This record gives sequence, C-alpha cells and structure tokens, in this order.
Amino acid sequence: MATYQFPKQTIADVPIRGRTVLVRVDYNVPLENGRITSDFRIRAELPTLEYLLKQGARKVFLIAHLGRPEGVARELSLRPTAVDLAKLLDEPVDFVEYVPGVLGKPEDVAAATSRVAVLENLRFSEAEETDSEDFARALVEATGADLFVQDGFANVHRKHASMDAITKLLPAVAGYLVEKEVADVMKAIHDPVRPLLTIIGGAKVEDKAPMVEKMLEVADEICLGGKFAQDYTPPESEKILMPVDARKDAEGRSLDIGDRSAVAIVEAIDRAETIIWNGTVGMAEEAEFARSSELIATALGQSGKTTIICGGDTTGFVLNYQEKYRDLKYTLISTGGGASLELILGEPLPGLDCLLDK
Ligand code: 3PG
Repeated sequence: MATYQFPKQTIADVPIRGRTVLVRVDYNVPLENGRITSDFRIRAELPTLEYLLKQGARKVFLIAHLGRPEGVARELSLRPTAVDLAKLLDEPVDFVEYVPGVLGKPEDVAAATSRVAVLENLRFSEAEETDSEDFARALVEATGADLFVQDGFANVHRKHASMDAITKLLPAVAGYLVEKEVADVMKAIHDPVRPLLTIIGGAKVEDKAPMVEKMLEVADEICLGGKFAQDYTPPESEKILMPVDARKDAEGRSLDIGDRSAVAIVEAIDRAETIIWNGTVGMAEEAEFARSSELIATALGQSGKTTIICGGDTTGFVLNYQEKYRDLKYTLISTGGGASLELILGEPLPGLDCLLDK
C-alpha cells in the first residue's frame, strides 16, 4: 500500500500573513476549583498557534468548548485557559465573554486588542451542538475572520457549528495537531513498519471489542488486558494473546494482569516495530494495580519504536508516568479520547471531512 498522505489542506498550504484566523481548539481540560489540573491539551495546540503568529496572522481567535453544560454555567468558563495560554505563549491573550445569542456582544470581540483571544465556551449555546449555520455566521461576523483552522483533534468526531457549519462560510484547513494525530494513527494502521502490535485494555467490552475486531484485520499481534480481557470472549485467532495470571486484592478480585502476563506483553513489544496502546491493563489509578501498565509504559517509552498511545485513561496515565520518568519518549500521545477510537475504527469524522482537500 502507498505511503499514507494526509488528504486535507493544512495551514502550510495557505497564505497566513494579514489574515484573521478562527482556530477551533480542544480546550476541554480537567478543572478543580477553577484551576486547570492538566494543560496537556493547551500545550498540544501551541505549534499551530506559534506558526500562525510567526507567519504574520493579524489576529487569532480561539474557539472551543468545555464540559457538557446546559446553558450558561460559570464554572465551565474557558477564562482559565486564556490565562494558561498567555503564560505558555509569553504574550497577552484576551478572554472575550462572547457566545452568539447568549453572552456579550460583537463589539466585545472587536474590543479585544491582543493578537490572540479566546472566546467563551461555545456550548453555553445549544446552537453549537445543533450545527447551526446562523451561530457559525455570527462567530465569523463578530471576529471578522477570513480563514478557519481545525486543530481540535479531540472534537473531530462531532458535527457541531464551530467545526462543520463554519466550514461552509470560510476556507477551512487543518492545523498541525490534527494533521499529526491523523497521520500518525493512519500510518500505524494502514502503512506500518511491521510487525504491528496492539495492546488493548480498559474496562468496557462494548468500547473495546470493535477495536479488537478492527485490529484483527491489520495487526500482527494483539495483547489484551484489564477488566475488558476478563469479561470478553475473543474470536479464535493465533494473533490474540490473553493474560495468563492476575494481581488480586485482599478480596480476591483481579485488578491487574500478573507479572507473567506483563512480561509476555513486554516480549511482544520487543518483537514489534509499531505499537498502538489503548487501555491500561489494570486499575492503574491505584499504585499497587498500576504495576503492569507501568511496565508497558516503560518498555514502550524506551523502545525507540513507533509508539501510539490513545484513549483518555491511557494518555492520562502515561502523561503522569512521564512526569516522573522524563526520558520516556512516545511517537504520539493522543489528545483525543473518543476521536482517536473513531479514527482507528474508520468511522466518519465530520470535523475533518469538511476541510478543504489537498
Ligand atoms: C473530549 O474531551 O474527548 C472532547 O473534547 C469531546 O468532548 P465531548 O465528548 O463532550 O463532545
């Protein structure tokens, strides 16, 4: 099969100088008492923002959602993300309390003087999720944007106004995060350096069973773990390696795969050249039952091979682990939970499909 080519135009394909750019980002970050507890997703967007600024964009407006509010919910304001971004970019970032029809006025947007501004949580209006073209038009008119950039990879499986309707009004291209996430995963699945190994853990059979079926078509080996592997009856296949032992708590509940099973996965990693990991293999939020997942994270992070980490819990686990062991390196730690799964399964991604073709 030919080498995978990202099929959409990106910010590298269009002139940027002097343009006013609306960038859809994923700032759906974890918050505790109004404080961001992980700015991984904000950092992941920096290459696109820095490129746009360096190329001379006149103004960059960031649009995003946070949580799943019903109406205006002040505790889900995006204001903290603007504060965080200003520190990361080391330049002022305006925060504008504007959501068409719900909060603020277009004049508030016009009054933002910094080169970069974050608008308030678009999901404060239900028009965002109903993919309303009027809502998208109001955003375009208030900002005066003449280019749309989709860089919220974690949202591309949603068909919302700030991702879909807006592309009917502005030329729409991908940012670097979307390009990297899609290209890394698509290459790993359709054009990998073989052998391709997939490690699938987690809890829910209904979430992970379709991934096993998909991977049976493309992977050379599949290792299963986690509660998922206890509850799931896999199809007959020589490619599938099931756990052979377990680490149990005092009540006899199996909460992690055992040492022999973890070593078998590490050996499979040694045999492979490309590895996709989705789902921790034990109850990794408890130190005692994180051991096998830690062994896998270490083996992958030291392997120097193509390593794709995806799924919300797995990426959270690996990011925390990498904080402690900074020499661990991965090809991609995906920002997308649902989006990366849909991408792997080959489901339609409306937020990507509507961008301009190459
Ligand atoms: C995510 O956190 O995975 C994305 O931001 C999508 O959020 P949603 O599932 O609420 O649409």
